[in-house]
Amino acid sequence: MTIELALPDVVAPGRTATPCTFLMCPPTYFDVVYAINPWMDLGVPVDTARAVAQWEALRATYERHGHTVHVVEPEPGLPDMVYAANGGLVVGGRALAPRFLHPERHAEGPAYARWFDAAARAGVLGADGVSLGQAEELNEGEGDILLVGDLLLAGTGFRTSRAAHAELDRRLRLAEQGITVVSLELVDPRYYHLDTALTVLDAAAGLVAYLPEAFSRESLDTLRDLFPDAILADPDDAAALGLNAVSDGRHVYLNAAATGMHAKLRERGFEPVPVEIDEILKGGGSVKCCTLVLRPSREAP
Ligand code: ARG
Repeated sequence: MTIELALPDVVAPGRTATPCTFLMCPPTYFDVVYAINPWMDLGVPVDTARAVAQWEALRATYERHGHTVHVVEPEPGLPDMVYAANGGLVVGGRALAPRFLHPERHAEGPAYARWFDAAARAGVLGADGVSLGQAEELNEGEGDILLVGDLLLAGTGFRTSRAAHAELDRRLRLAEQGITVVSLELVDPRYYHLDTALTVLDAAAGLVAYLPEAFSRESLDTLRDLFPDAILADPDDAAALGLNAVSDGRHVYLNAAATGMHAKLRERGFEPVPVEIDEILKGGGSVKCCTLVLRPSREAP
């Protein structure tokens, strides 16, 4: 007689996926026609059709995992509009559109603001959702601003200004929502946006991954204090844009080529979901850059 023992699952500490709502923009007009970060090389041709196919696959991957994807209409002449993370920040249904540093991207601010206006009217931002228009200060949206539980990590150094951090606090009424802003200074031009140097893996548990070398001494001390359990990425992980990832708390969607990061995630019980994204990478952005998280206002009980 054989006795079958049901062994508890000791490998993964039971990570739970939470359904998310995202905003994405198809790379219909994606190209590299100017260079505003070290990844953009005018000598390397872009295959826009291939970028569209990779983007469609990413969107389908999200939907297959139960997430909702809203789409903003791309505009001709705005080749970087595919990087929807830069399209703003939405917390508690309050949506603030960005103000870009580089003139090449200026027109994206109003384009995203128009989408938020329509979304607020349609109830997509929740019953109390409101579109606040464009930021007054230099603010590149979720490219530089990441919410981890009740902390809003706000990058500065290359694009988003410190004044923008204060503006977010005020206009998104963060204190009222129990959220504290933590400014972090980026120092490596390759990791010019916070979302290229830090990933939120489990917002509720306060678990993040980051590249220590991308931050100033002082900001690194802050990160060590706030996140003693963080996954520390190495330069190869970051160079594959392995930190430019989206997590639903269990699945982590990231560049298929960032294999070192896949291993580190598995060790902590996450399920990496590899995505082919090399064409879109030519503009200096990966999975997270293509994905803005929409956090609608809570419905009245
Ligand atoms: N070419 C774009 C820029 O330099 C890439 C933006 C990437 N987006 C991001 N969220 N990191 O502005």
